[in-house]
Amino acid sequence: MSATPSMGLRPALPPDIAALKGQRPIVMLTAYTAPMARLVDAHCDVALVGDSLGMVLHGLPSTLGVTMEMMILHGRAVMRGLTRAMCVIDMPFGSYEESPEQAFRNAARLVAETGAPAVKLEGGAHMAETIAFLTARGIPVMAHVGLTPQAVNTLGGYKVVGREAEAARVMEDARAVEAAGAFAVVIEKVPMGLAARITQGLAIPTIGIGAGPDCDGQVLVVDDMLGLFTDFRPKFVKRYADLGQGAAAAIADYADDVRARRFPTREHGFADVVKPK
Ligand code: KIV
Repeated sequence: MSATPSMGLRPALPPDIAALKGQRPIVMLTAYTAPMARLVDAHCDVALVGDSLGMVLHGLPSTLGVTMEMMILHGRAVMRGLTRAMCVIDMPFGSYEESPEQAFRNAARLVAETGAPAVKLEGGAHMAETIAFLTARGIPVMAHVGLTPQAVNTLGGYKVVGREAEAARVMEDARAVEAAGAFAVVIEKVPMGLAARITQGLAIPTIGIGAGPDCDGQVLVVDDMLGLFTDFRPKFVKRYADLGQGAAAAIADYADDVRARRFPTREHGFADVVKPK
């Protein structure tokens, strides 16, 4: 039985998720398709249509090439699979950084065209004005600090963020997004002690990825935890299955069967209909 806050009466909304702080851990996974959303919906509080879909589904080298159209297409698919979990949809690179007005236009489009009740955007203190602008106009925002993958080129890679002197800046970012009205904040790839201090210091829930066990909730890219990639094993991901290996073996068996004419057999075919004269 799922412990999603709506208890099955309606999909959860940002206040339901925010209210879980201090009650129990918040469970979040990415989902990009309707069938995966249905699986996530049965067990998780939040389904994130992450812009990681650019790399995971579309084979892009980073999330920078993800477009509004891609997010809307996958957002709609995910919403069709949810009955109780809350959907959060990522704002893609270039859709919100220019001004609060640009962010509102695109966030409103994501919400209106997908039905998702909340958006997520990357950035701390420098995005505070935008977060306040959106929340004041009816768009709940989940913030994202620490490693922000859309800044991969300025950060110089997907490294841990917030060691030594950098820790104070990450703490300030988290405080700034809370003060701006974010209902929750993702903390990605920061040292565990820092994540714990941020979690203790904020009234909104922190959702960690590569941020240790002391956050208010956890998120992973669902394809990573299912082991759908055979060659990608980041330290912060626990693999709960090895579906990539299973899929590779199944595809190899199918190819062998077709080449050896073992598939299809008569049992997979349809009988000819003989019309009565
Ligand atoms: O895009 C994404 O999947 C994310 C999570 C990794 C938090 O932002």
